[in-house]
Amino acid sequence: MIERNGPCWCGSGKKWKKCHYPNLPLSELSTQAKRYLKDFGIILKSAEQIEKIRAACQITAQILDELCKQAKAGVTTLELDQLSRKLHKEAGVIPATLGYGKPPYPMTICTSLNEVICHGIPDETPLKKGDILNIDASCILDGYFGDCSRMVAIGDVSLDKHLVMSVSLECLQRAIQVCKPGSPISAIGQAIEDYATSQGCSVVNQFVGHGVGLAFHEPPEIPHHYNQVQIPMAPGMIFTIEPMINAGVREGLIDPHDHWTVRTKDGKPSAQWEHTILITDEGREVLT
Ligand code: MF3
Ligand code: CO
Repeated sequence: MIERNGPCWCGSGKKWKKCHYPNLPLSELSTQAKRYLKDFGIILKSAEQIEKIRAACQITAQILDELCKQAKAGVTTLELDQLSRKLHKEAGVIPATLGYGKPPYPMTICTSLNEVICHGIPDETPLKKGDILNIDASCILDGYFGDCSRMVAIGDVSLDKHLVMSVSLECLQRAIQVCKPGSPISAIGQAIEDYATSQGCSVVNQFVGHGVGLAFHEPPEIPHHYNQVQIPMAPGMIFTIEPMINAGVREGLIDPHDHWTVRTKDGKPSAQWEHTILITDEGREVLT
């Protein structure tokens, strides 16, 4: 949800709405932008905002590419986080996850291994052959956000790990294909769950994609499972699609000690890929 009352990303300690919350002079918004804001709380982005968010997304994707290259057997996920801190600093961007939420998320990326669905916290565990790893990066550039994640296989992996990796990527690609002005948000979950179940996999429904750009999480929610969200996509909408696909049951359990790590209830593998998507006049643009 939109975190207008949460602390500003800039670290001022002020509420976001009292600090860097974007000025949205209603008089300058199109009829459609006014309606989306009023009816759904969705901010249709202006051309200037899109340019800044595109830049944030490109940096996020570059950082993620570099991190994925360094994910090899013997490397710990904490070392990946240390590299991530360095890459963020060099690029002049703030990691959006650091200090986010309750309890404050302690790291600059999420690293979700094998049966971890999402929000895995980097630690001293070295990667080993046969692991599958999701790295999730999100950056703030001058107040504009980008968010994406990808999978890496460490050496040869088991059939069920290979399956969830390829099915989750195909789910993301199919979901992107249905994005265009006028398509209901529900078309995304339809494309994803149709394909995942046809391959014998399940779709996580406890976590969703989200509007992004002026905040880390904005309306609308983007379910990856079958749903009834009839909001039509419109040019200027920016949101993530980030399907989490399991080899076994869809249910996940949050770690009772760290309150973040989400593991499959049955311990079977899970995989996720994520892009930030812009709806354009013609269709969609993948920003990450
Ligand atoms: N890409 C995930 C998201 O969109 C990353 C969550 S980061 C965490 O929400 F800080 F919440 F862990
Ligand atoms: Co996201």
